[in-house]
Amino acid sequence: MASPVFLCILLVIFGSYLSICAAGDGKQSFVVVSTRSFQTEDVCSTSTVTSWPNRAAAPLVHRHGPCAKSQSTDKPSFTEALHRSRVRADYIMSKAPRGTTVQEQDEGKVSIPAYLGTSVDSQEYVVTLGLGTPAVEQVVLLDTGSYLSWVQCAPCNSSDCYPQKDPLFDPRKSSTYAPISCGSDVCKILQSDDKLNNGCSMNGNGTQSQCGYRVEYGGGSKTSGVYSNEALTLAPGIVIKDFHFGCGYKQGGPNDKFDGLLGLGRAPESLPVQTSAVYGGSFSYCLPPVSSGTGFLALGAPSNTSAFSFTSMTPLMDYATFYVVELTGISVGGKQLHIPRKALEGGMIVDCGNIITQLPTTPHAKLQSAFRAAMAAYPLVPSDPDETCYNFTGYSNVTVPKVALTFSGGVTIDLDVPNGVLLDGCLAFAESGPDGYGGTIGNVQMRTSEMLYDVRGGRLGFRAGAC
Ligand SMILES: *[C@@H]1O[C@H](CO)[C@@H](O)[C@H](O)[C@H]1NC(C)=O
Ligand SMILES: *[C@@H]1O[C@H](CO)[C@@H](O)[C@H](O)[C@H]1NC(C)=O
Ligand SMILES: *[C@@H]1O[C@H](CO)[C@@H](O)[C@H](O)[C@H]1NC(C)=O
Ligand SMILES: *[C@@H]1O[C@H](CO)[C@@H](O)[C@H](O)[C@H]1NC(C)=O
Ligand SMILES: *[C@@H]1O[C@H](CO)[C@@H](O)[C@H](O)[C@H]1NC(C)=O
Repeated sequence: MASPVFLCILLVIFGSYLSICAAGDGKQSFVVVSTRSFQTEDVCSTSTVTSWPNRAAAPLVHRHGPCAKSQSTDKPSFTEALHRSRVRADYIMSKAPRGTTVQEQDEGKVSIPAYLGTSVDSQEYVVTLGLGTPAVEQVVLLDTGSYLSWVQCAPCNSSDCYPQKDPLFDPRKSSTYAPISCGSDVCKILQSDDKLNNGCSMNGNGTQSQCGYRVEYGGGSKTSGVYSNEALTLAPGIVIKDFHFGCGYKQGGPNDKFDGLLGLGRAPESLPVQTSAVYGGSFSYCLPPVSSGTGFLALGAPSNTSAFSFTSMTPLMDYATFYVVELTGISVGGKQLHIPRKALEGGMIVDCGNIITQLPTTPHAKLQSAFRAAMAAYPLVPSDPDETCYNFTGYSNVTVPKVALTFSGGVTIDLDVPNGVLLDGCLAFAESGPDGYGGTIGNVQMRTSEMLYDVRGGRLGFRAGAC
């Protein structure tokens, strides 16, 4: 194969140099984007989500955007988003010590996902599901970093349930609700996660024969109640009859107007695993480019996956609930960064519940300096030296370098420009820790790409421009 030829055109605009480079294959490495595309519209732009054969899809929106039914008003600033991302990444990384991917498992030790919760305030995408019969709409956070789904349940007073916009789910009004009994296998599997005191003794309802659950998230949020069985409506006419979820009678900590959480991690309690007999354990989602857009969450894989590029996923031995991929390279504006291979060892946890991607020291420093060099035409906002924020006031368009991530197997993913790279005008990458420590891929970088978690096949697929 011929090596790519790069053609560069230097443009002099108002005294600043902007180079628009195109690789020999015709792909541009810089993109001119209107500054309007950075802004979130006040009006929700809906797109219809159709269900494909053998798949079920539900619309997915940003909880701080105009499409969220229970819209939260506290949209975090970039600095706050950075802080929330760091808290969550630190918590996840502390639970998933590096190097565990290669450890031998002790003979006879039962492999259980010894980890339930991550901090919730970094989570930004929600889906609206119908719970019970008749179905009651519930807005739940989407989380690939944990697996137990729950909603706040009535009866619950203001000290045990935080205020939410939708009415509380009331199991007494549903004809299909049933608490899971203490002695059932489903409860025993939940109980085997003994670190979290799940099972009969922690029953929120006070009735010992019911299966209790309890989740504590990093950052102090917690929920406990009765592990329950209920009908879940994913989309009109698509009902999962026996969905197991936590009916939360006691919540605490900083929760913010969402009704509950949908766990997508890799464990028996997660929605994709519970529905694997029907949907094969696969799921996908597409996060919209801006918070006024609509994406989708789908259960099941398309029968023809030729539009996807796949990289393999490595399970972490003791923390099998996480999805981990191997990042092997990064390019900025078509130029490959020289990153020592060892720096990227440790893997990247794919975490839709986090915001900003966290990279080890050297890859982060190289990415930041290459990006700043490529964006030298624009004034940086004087701020924290860790932040790379631009002041685009007075610009109607800006030229942004493409940022591409290469994963094991040679799969290269171009991040969306600008919304997969910049958040509120700031470079949406931060430092996770020392080289070789690993990192996490946050939701900004996932925007507009359909991410297909083929859990049984042990691979993660990307399809660009899917929403
Ligand atoms: C709320 O309910 C719980 C449990 O039923 C009870 O212990 C608590 O005192 C109640 N708090 C208020 C403010 O009513
Ligand atoms: C506890 O569960 C029992 C049996 O399902 C039910 O009758 C009762 O109303 C529940 N109590 C509360 C406070 O939810
Ligand atoms: C899969 O879809 C691609 C286009 O996306 C098409 O070219 C190919 O023929 C399809 N394969 C099968 C087996 O249907
Ligand atoms: C951004 O630039 C404009 C125009 O140059 C200036 O008025 C404004 O103070 C700058 N804002 C920040 C946050 O630096
Ligand atoms: C970018 O903005 C400049 C000045 O406002 C304008 O002349 C130019 O046509 C714009 N370029 C694109 C590609 O929109």
